[in-house]
Amino acid sequence: MAAGGASILRAGMVGLGMIFDETYRPFFERAHAEGLWDRRFGALAVELTAVGSRTGKRAAAYKKSAGQKIADFQNFSGSDAIDQLVTADVDLVCVATPDDRHYESARKALQAGKHVVIEKPSVLSLKELDELVALAQDQGVLAKVVYHKLLDPDHKKLRTLVEDGVLRHVNNGYCSLLEPKSISGQQFAEWISGRNPGTYVAVHYLKLIDFTFGGRLKTVTATGQRGLVGPKDGPTWDSVQMRLVYEYGDGREAAFDIHTSWVTPNNFPGYVEQEVQFRFDNGVWNGHSRKRGVELTVEDKTPNDLKTTINTHYNGTFVEPWGERSQRGYGIEVIERFVREVAYVEKGGPAGERTRRLKEMRELGYNDLSADRQVVASVQALEAILAEAAQGRPDAVASYDAESGKLTLAWPGVAETRVLHPGR
Ligand SMILES: NC(=O)c1ccc[n+]([C@@H]2O[C@H](COP(=O)([O-])OP(=O)(O)OC[C@H]3O[C@@H](n4cnc5c(N)ncnc54)[C@H](O)[C@@H]3O)[C@@H](O)[C@H]2O)c1
Repeated sequence: MAAGGASILRAGMVGLGMIFDETYRPFFERAHAEGLWDRRFGALAVELTAVGSRTGKRAAAYKKSAGQKIADFQNFSGSDAIDQLVTADVDLVCVATPDDRHYESARKALQAGKHVVIEKPSVLSLKELDELVALAQDQGVLAKVVYHKLLDPDHKKLRTLVEDGVLRHVNNGYCSLLEPKSISGQQFAEWISGRNPGTYVAVHYLKLIDFTFGGRLKTVTATGQRGLVGPKDGPTWDSVQMRLVYEYGDGREAAFDIHTSWVTPNNFPGYVEQEVQFRFDNGVWNGHSRKRGVELTVEDKTPNDLKTTINTHYNGTFVEPWGERSQRGYGIEVIERFVREVAYVEKGGPAGERTRRLKEMRELGYNDLSADRQVVASVQALEAILAEAAQGRPDAVASYDAESGKLTLAWPGVAETRVLHPGR
């Protein structure tokens, strides 16, 4: 029990980059000030007690600037930061490193018996996913992934209309997410070599499609362009277009195109431009995550320092009507949800019923790793298709067998196939 009779959950954080600043930091600061409450687990203190990153510099600077806004935390750095962090007294670990380093940190945290939440994309291969799911099962802890777009009120409404049968059978659709050159040129320059803009942002829509419409993933194809971020024949991609085909219970199919880029001009109005359209048997859904009604112009500030079409829903800083300064939005809410799920498992009733509570929280398909399989299959397919293209073998088609979980790559007119994952 912590001071004041509240029980406590201690959190560890791996990676203190942009996403930490946007979502985890405001969550932990609010939790530090207010705690969490739920009838099932009562008053709960939540503290960030350990962080791990490569250099530790941002953590040190954050500790200094945050002052009383956050509890004192241990700051681990270097190549073994995660090894040190998991020996600290933490109940849960948040993994927000670049995506090709998620698996290692998540595995070590699960092995140490910690609950884990990983930023999207969870991991880059089915092998890694299956291992983490099995490990979480063995250790009796939660392993989850953050897809904040599922908590966007517009996407919740879309899913509600599908769930309620108002929108019937999706046939096809497109999604696009465009980011400015500053993302590839500055923000992510450290890890961008050999990578593409699809894996880490198309994945938002891979999940939205998979979670909202259900169905069985059948095929993935992809192409892209090079020459700006890296050489025109190298392994680093400027923009990527992928297509997925799904099949539903009645045997009918749907196709989805997802376009992503991280080389859009820095002064384009959106900063992150996100658009979707889904066509159903009886309807059309058109969504734009930025143009929700706000268009802001400030002399000498928009569109660079301030954005023209701002997304105040994801993560906005506000003066509340009651005078308080706050930072809130669905990007922060999704972190809080995970912490509430851990609190429910650990403190939401008698110890003898923990297994039942754990099972209940694992059944939440929106964030449980076990429900991320078709999304990870699509990501692994995309990475493999682009890697093959960079080596002079373009136009591969990935096929996923939802029954066996097998993922294969084939080329039109070529008999040989490449097995990306042998199945469960
Ligand atoms: N949910 C979203 O919309 C969203 C938005 C941005 C980023 N993300 C995800 O969050 C993750 C991080 O993105 P970011 O923008 O914060 O990246 P970033 O490059 O700004 O920061 C990465 C952080 O990880 C640390 N790090 C790198 N390698 C490490 C290692 N081996 N061990 C410990 N720490 C290590 C770095 O020191 C840095 O603090 C990515 O997976 C990304 O896809 C999600």
